[in-house]
Amino acid sequence: MSTTDARVEVVHPTSVVREAGNLLRAAWSPPSLHYSDEFLAWQFGFPGGEGALAATAWDAASERLIGFAAVTPRRMRVNDWSGVVYALSYVAAHPSARGRGIAAAVYAALLEAVDAAACPVLTFAQPQSGGERAIRRAYPAAGYRLYPLGECQAWGAMVRPSSAGETASCQVGSVAEMSASLGRVLKAQSARDILWADPDDAELVHYARDPRTRRALLCGPHDNSTTAAVASLAVAAEMNTARGVERTILLECLAASDARAADLRAMVQQAATTISPAGRTALVTIPNATGLDPTVARAAGLRRLPSSFVSYWCVGPLAQARLGLEVPTGTNAEII
Ligand SMILES: CC(C)(COP(=O)(O)OP(=O)(O)OC[C@H]1O[C@@H](n2cnc3c(N)ncnc32)[C@H](O)[C@@H]1OP(=O)(O)O)[C@@H](O)C(=O)NCCC(=O)NCCS
Repeated sequence: MSTTDARVEVVHPTSVVREAGNLLRAAWSPPSLHYSDEFLAWQFGFPGGEGALAATAWDAASERLIGFAAVTPRRMRVNDWSGVVYALSYVAAHPSARGRGIAAAVYAALLEAVDAAACPVLTFAQPQSGGERAIRRAYPAAGYRLYPLGECQAWGAMVRPSSAGETASCQVGSVAEMSASLGRVLKAQSARDILWADPDDAELVHYARDPRTRRALLCGPHDNSTTAAVASLAVAAEMNTARGVERTILLECLAASDARAADLRAMVQQAATTISPAGRTALVTIPNATGLDPTVARAAGLRRLPSSFVSYWCVGPLAQARLGLEVPTGTNAEII
């Protein structure tokens, strides 16, 4: 494989939002996430650690961007360790430049830069895809240990928006307004060996700036507790489909280890009622239901959806030496 006709550079991705958007939209066929420039600019602005980083490959003759990958920081914790994890995503090679090592070259440059920051990496892929194959090649080639965390279990339901009374036990509001209670429920998740999303205030403030509709949902509490039993960050994600850009409701970073079916049902109803465009029946999906008891999910009216993502925990040599990280077996992190 020759990549001599491409120039590879590590940059801050906010400097190449327009080029990255054009490349990602050309690289993915529907159905896929819609990579609008606004969405990418927001993703590349996540705070934490040394901020986002990207590797870019430019065609030597045309100076067009033909390869891209980026990491954005997220605060996470597993057992006694907590810190910044780099979520690696936005990997793309232009359709006209595939199969000649562009993705491999971009990975090599990005993984070297990421390990210099001593941060572990979390990444997602569709099972058995070219993307997963590239992951399995790229990380070991860069000296990383690659730990498969398995399938992200997806659950969902078609939900009709309901009257306020039916969702009274579920609070909905802006992530910024509800950040303190949201943070508390996310922190209360305690199952061992799970990599839990653990956003700090700065990260929650950034979530509140999502250019798509993004809401905090909190259901419960019950008994004598003052802390809600279930929480999630809900978003009206934009999907690129054969019919154009469509919205779908995703409940991300689900914290549901104390969930009762009634709480979960109220949360799903509340998401459809407040986020569904035009008040129509909507598919509400929990793309990554780690920590959710399947019996509770079924009793709340949710059904298992075919799982479409696997995740990997990836630790470079410097991260390993400096941090001696725990190895998780699953994660409730947002799939990006
Ligand atoms: C996946 C993608 C980034 C690969 O880009 P690329 O520049 O063609 O990949 P490379 O030439 O660097 O190949 C890297 C490795 O992945 C493998 N690979 C890449 N695409 C593959 C495919 N479609 N099927 C099987 N293997 C594939 C290559 O064979 C190579 O492994 P090898 O060294 O064992 O031969 C590109 O096809 C793409 O942009 N796809 C759409 C977006 C996407 O799926 N992104 C990844 C999300 S996880």
